[in-house]
Amino acid sequence: MASIEIRHLKLIDTVAAVGTLKNAAEKLFLTQSALSHQLKELESRLGTQIFYRVNNQLVFTTSGKELRDASKEILERLKQAENNIQEIGQDHMKSYIHGYSQEETTRLNDQANSIAELLHWDSKWKKGSLILEAGCGVGAQTKIIAKNNSDSTFISVDLSTTSLEKAEASIKEHNIKNVEFKVADLLHLPFKDGHFDHIFVCFVLEHIPHPKEALQELKRVLKPGGTLMIIEGDHGSTYFYPDSLSAQKVVQAQVTLQQQKGGNANIGRALYPLLLDSGFKNITISPRQVYVDDSKPELVDGFIKNTFTAMVRGITEEALAKKIISKEEINNGINDLYKTAEGGGTFCYTFFKGIAIKD
Ligand SMILES: C[S@@+](CC[C@H](N)C(=O)[O-])C[C@H]1O[C@@H](n2cnc3c(N)ncnc32)[C@H](O)[C@@H]1O
Repeated sequence: MASIEIRHLKLIDTVAAVGTLKNAAEKLFLTQSALSHQLKELESRLGTQIFYRVNNQLVFTTSGKELRDASKEILERLKQAENNIQEIGQDHMKSYIHGYSQEETTRLNDQANSIAELLHWDSKWKKGSLILEAGCGVGAQTKIIAKNNSDSTFISVDLSTTSLEKAEASIKEHNIKNVEFKVADLLHLPFKDGHFDHIFVCFVLEHIPHPKEALQELKRVLKPGGTLMIIEGDHGSTYFYPDSLSAQKVVQAQVTLQQQKGGNANIGRALYPLLLDSGFKNITISPRQVYVDDSKPELVDGFIKNTFTAMVRGITEEALAKKIISKEEINNGINDLYKTAEGGGTFCYTFFKGIAIKD
């Protein structure tokens, strides 16, 4: 069987970028004859020609084009995995409970899309505003708020470079032009005092060990008279039918694990005192309940299965390794969460949306 190796993919990808074997050899720090040998070897393994030579340029054959596209995709994916692995190794990333996998990207987008109207019907700012989105992740909320406020400018920041790359790709795919992305820690923001007209934060404070410090840093970069809009969940607000002790236990396992990592999965109920303690004024908290039954099939899939149960599933390996819950309890709990998505089941969860002013 023909076997294509990574060095072959690099050869193809580099030739696609620079056009000749001579330039590719220089770019790859190889001699031209070594590269030529690799190319012949690859063509012989595949039993087909990859390039035609036209006036000293290499032009891809039909098979070559197939290999060129695959090389680009595979090398990009490997680069992304390398970046992810580097990030996972950093201390501040290790403490983030959900991680940065492809499954989590899908989950964040399912979450944002399934409850977009409930959370964002009032996420509107005055025309021409400069808005900071702190902890934008993969841009799941960004694409919604930036589209609904196309006459304002967003600067969206996150700790994770990999997430920001995904966010940038998503914004481009949705043809949204009013967002700039930046790597930044919301505890040490690289902006001067009073830089922003408004700030938006969603599902971030629950992961921060000292949320009051985060709120004070956000307040620092907010203009006097500017607003902070903040959305958080509260896992203690979860109840469902059929009720199940196992399902409650698996949800509690997430709460415990998040607490061990310095976060608070029940932070929704504490938004008011946190904003008050951090010196914000005119605080209004608006609880937003998601209620799902058979009459809302899009929420049965989008929220019960793909957002909430997917989130709990995502932490089970670590909860098991830390002996917070047993394998049997996990399996029973997850099965029972799925039962709430079957005919006759119901599911309730409450998000808390706060708006406050810096005076
Ligand atoms: C659950 S995700 C939410 C992402 C997005 N706001 C959403 O609702 O889809 C939490 C995000 O907060 C980011 N984050 C956590 N701590 C942070 C910090 N100190 N500074 C900036 N971002 C942070 C994480 O990297 C992650 O992308």
